[in-house]
Amino acid sequence: MALTRRNFVHTVGLGTAGALTATLIGSRGRENFIWSALEPTLHAVDPGMIVISSNENPMGPGAKVIAAIQSAFGADGGRPGRYSGGARDLIDALAKKHGVKPENIVLGCGSTQILRSVTHVFTAKDKPLVATIPTYEECADYATLMGNKVVGVALDSEFKPDLDRLADASQGAGLVFYCNPSNPSSTFAGARATRDFIAKLNSQSPGTTILVDEAYFHYVTDPDHETFIPMAVQNPRVIVARTFSKAYGMAGLRIGYAVGHAETIKQLASWDAGSGTSSLNVLAMAGAIAAVEQGDAFITKERARNAAVRDFSMKWFSDRGMKPTDSQANFMFVNIGRPVREFRDACRKKNVVVARDFPPFEKTHCRIAFGTMDEMQKAVKVFGEVLGKSAAAAA
Ligand SMILES: Cc1ncc(COP(=O)(O)O)c(C=O)c1O
Repeated sequence: MALTRRNFVHTVGLGTAGALTATLIGSRGRENFIWSALEPTLHAVDPGMIVISSNENPMGPGAKVIAAIQSAFGADGGRPGRYSGGARDLIDALAKKHGVKPENIVLGCGSTQILRSVTHVFTAKDKPLVATIPTYEECADYATLMGNKVVGVALDSEFKPDLDRLADASQGAGLVFYCNPSNPSSTFAGARATRDFIAKLNSQSPGTTILVDEAYFHYVTDPDHETFIPMAVQNPRVIVARTFSKAYGMAGLRIGYAVGHAETIKQLASWDAGSGTSSLNVLAMAGAIAAVEQGDAFITKERARNAAVRDFSMKWFSDRGMKPTDSQANFMFVNIGRPVREFRDACRKKNVVVARDFPPFEKTHCRIAFGTMDEMQKAVKVFGEVLGKSAAAAA
């Protein structure tokens, strides 16, 4: 249990999934949507709901991105009627931004497509997937669906990846999913520790590929922080996944990418991701080009906005004796000392939506994303009411 959510597929079936498709187009509540299929009363994007369940940027994309999407319809509104357009331009813009070559990049319909493609290419019946428990489950779910083995390694006492144990468990593995910052724990392994971990893994298990998921990269405030894109370009055993869904505020648009060695990227592109016509949408690509070209100021501002909300939200819980893990992301994992389902259901009745269960911590730890400051000020009032006496007494 705990590392995959595959039982969702068995439980829900195609009929239900089809009926809920419209909910997916909203940019907030998407990750939660997956689980809301089990709880059909949830309408995560209803006006008035505070949706802090899916780790999104509550501000959405900036004005430049919206303008680019609007103009991508074309003067006659006909451009979205064509299959392709924009993939090459987006790859070029990303290559320039990261100082890599276009052949080092492949696009995906969200980084979800990247995670699935990498799992498809690098795991097999005799090549398991290794990841922490808990983790973001996409790769583990997909490996399980393919009938491939998944090995889980517990987090350490600070809810960080136990890198020595992870390296040791990865001998002979096909793929290590290395989510940093980690979802759902929100913690972070520093750049030096990550470099040492990758070096150890490369030498102990040269055939094992490492997928470094940098979905929350832009939210890190710890100075011991760097992207593994330069390493990925040189090292065929390292792939970095990035997304426009988080700090760029474009979750509903569905666009992400991988950066890696040219040979690795060729392998991924030839299988599925990034052909430019099969799964990418022209409006998302136009928006993503504008997001890249708008420069770093947007991200710097978003990181600062998030850090202020993070500090406020974490302090609220800490002051009441409920310690969150050290968040380096746009969400926190906090010990509320009671089953999360109870807490979640009670919050939802008061129009606040927090995240699903993350076994094995479903009896204690809740993942709460950071909304706007205004949303969090309202949300903590609800948390105070729901948590009752214990929260009020410490206030
Ligand atoms: C760690 C991590 N990776 C990847 C994703 C997938 O994001 P997307 O497909 O929107 O890029 C998520 C979504 O929440 C995530 O938390």
